[in-house]
Amino acid sequence: MNSYLLFKSIHLIAVISWMAGLLYLPRIFVYHSEAIANNKSEDLMSTFKIMERRLFIYIMNPAMIVSWILGILLIHTIGLDNFSFLWLQLKLFFVIILTIYHFFLFQCLRKFTENNNSFSPKFYRIINEIPTVLLIGIILIIVFKPL
Ligand code: HEM
Repeated sequence: MNSYLLFKSIHLIAVISWMAGLLYLPRIFVYHSEAIANNKSEDLMSTFKIMERRLFIYIMNPAMIVSWILGILLIHTIGLDNFSFLWLQLKLFFVIILTIYHFFLFQCLRKFTENNNSFSPKFYRIINEIPTVLLIGIILIIVFKPL
């Protein structure tokens, strides 16, 4: 069994799941904040809260943890000397920003749970582009591998 290919496959499955959540959660925040602005029913608000919580706890958190663990195992497999290459340094830089963004979304989720959201629907629409830009950057770096 080639452990490198197995690690890479699990890494890619986890990364796709993590990205799906990072792209979808702020979209739910857009609808949730619009519903608050339009004084929609409490039932609708609790549905949004359940959707946000389940997406974060059951998909995004485990997917992020597995992405990191398998990514670190991949670095170990290809050799720690790869840290001297620009592609790996750039990739880790982008992935750290993605991780900070993940925890920022968690802060927003907590505010929604406490009925204390402080951002507008427009704000969530704008930040929804952050993971898209980072995703494009990471894929270009990993495919072109600049030295
Ligand atoms: C969470 C921290 C991460 C670490 C430590 C990490 C590290 C790595 C390493 C060391 C490889 C193997 C590269 C090679 O064999 O040349 C790899 C492969 C890959 N990673 Fe990550 N990665 C992380 C997150 C991500 C994210 C967030 C994405 C996409 C959004 C991503 C996309 C990929 C892709 C597409 C490959 C396959 C590249 C290929 O086969 O040439 N990774 N990752």
